[in-house]
Amino acid sequence: MASFSSHPQPGDRVSSWGYSFIWTSDHLRKEEIEPLRQQYDTSASLALERLQAIRATLMEESKLKGTSAPPNDLYVLLRDHRGDDEILAQFWAEVNTVPDWVNWEQLARAQRFFYRYAIANIVGFALQGFVAENSAAPGVVEVLVRTGGFSTRMLLGRLLSTFQWLIQVTHGIDSIRPGGEGHIASVRVRLLHASVRQRILQLCRTRPDYFDIERFGVPVNTLDSIHSIAIFCCNPMWLQLPKFGIQPTPDEVEDYIALFRYVGFVLGTPTSYFESVERAKCTMESLLMHELRTTETSRTVAFNFVECVTNLPTPFHISKAFIEAGSRWINGDELCDELELGKPGLLAYLLFSSHCVLVVAVAWLQRLLPSLEELLITSLRKLMYGGVVQRKSRTRFEFKYIPRTGKRVGKEAYRVDDTATAKGGRGSSQLWSTLFGIFGVGPYEMALLFVFVVSGGAMLGGVLGVMQIVRGY
Ligand code: HEM
Repeated sequence: MASFSSHPQPGDRVSSWGYSFIWTSDHLRKEEIEPLRQQYDTSASLALERLQAIRATLMEESKLKGTSAPPNDLYVLLRDHRGDDEILAQFWAEVNTVPDWVNWEQLARAQRFFYRYAIANIVGFALQGFVAENSAAPGVVEVLVRTGGFSTRMLLGRLLSTFQWLIQVTHGIDSIRPGGEGHIASVRVRLLHASVRQRILQLCRTRPDYFDIERFGVPVNTLDSIHSIAIFCCNPMWLQLPKFGIQPTPDEVEDYIALFRYVGFVLGTPTSYFESVERAKCTMESLLMHELRTTETSRTVAFNFVECVTNLPTPFHISKAFIEAGSRWINGDELCDELELGKPGLLAYLLFSSHCVLVVAVAWLQRLLPSLEELLITSLRKLMYGGVVQRKSRTRFEFKYIPRTGKRVGKEAYRVDDTATAKGGRGSSQLWSTLFGIFGVGPYEMALLFVFVVSGGAMLGGVLGVMQIVRGY
């Protein structure tokens, strides 16, 4: 658990879940952050109400005229009706403004950073950003379990949707300029957050005990949003990549934070907390200290995540032990014990350390051979865009998992018929599943095991060979 008083003084060493740092006067005090819990993105909430009213009117008209129903897509409604209403015009101008601190070249470099360390970034986000930080941020998880998207059955879809957004905002510079694909996706997500907030607040009006606003703040509040942006851009720099053995350069850190400062701006999150690397680091550390507390709900979200990921179809299947070893490697035993994650055996740790060696080796090769780096960045960009953004079931970030009283996600064991993907995968690769089942690992781990055994064998052979030569002389 975090070791500190809740009011550390400048110069105090603060330790939170295995990460320690010196508290300074630039860190955010509890009294400073607490009011942010009751603040939220009012312009998106007002715009949402207007869009709903416009849609209701259009619905009436279409019924009377017998024409087709108006679009459900809030972004399309906003774009088409921004001239009809002052609030919509203001919101449109806000999301399409480019702050003067935006430097497109810098943001383009940051987008490349995501693909340069793609595997480490993705595994880091899943194991640290999601399992640890998201699960242990009480206000955030309370919202998440009220939207059914965090049930084991739906979680994969939700993770893919978030991943889709991440790929859209890192695809290319035109994608995040106003009107670009990543920009539009972010405006949609902003309106989606406003819908989640509106729905939960509506339910609270008739059932005040539905969501504890005093304790957790307004749903999707300003503090939680700052925290989420920090998870996306600060955690990879200081809590994730270094654990894999990758140390981003100071320029890479500055670029990546600048990218998410801008994305946060489009999403309606205050940007001053990310205006420099030092400020962003202080923001991350302050939230790590004030906000990370595990609750029963954290355990539910972490449990469902492990159930979902370990039941992916072949070839994506990853063993539970591998996820647990990775989580413990990155987040430490203390937090993982709190989240009730299992304790895996030595093999899982060996495999995860092989994964880290592989990630570091590729990173070094990329630094040595710029043409290899270019090839990897271009291919991964294409591959991920094709596989995730252009997939048939791509999302338009509609409000799918609508909170209802009495509906709350609990711990759920995975069932074989839970997703269509799982069914397809299982049926077509029974042989592989059986093979991996014998070893209790997934294909990626099997490949790591292979590399580990072969490189271990080669090293041993090399050593024996050198000894032979030495003895010969
Ligand atoms: C500011 C940084 C944030 C980013 C970049 C972000 C990103 C996203 C994305 C990409 C989606 C779409 C996924 C989908 O359609 O399933 C989404 C949905 C959602 N987000 Fe966020 N989010 C942020 C902050 C938050 C916060 C602070 C909360 C809650 C406390 C939250 C709660 C939700 C919920 C409940 C949904 C799903 C809505 C549904 O059921 O369809 N998000 N977010």
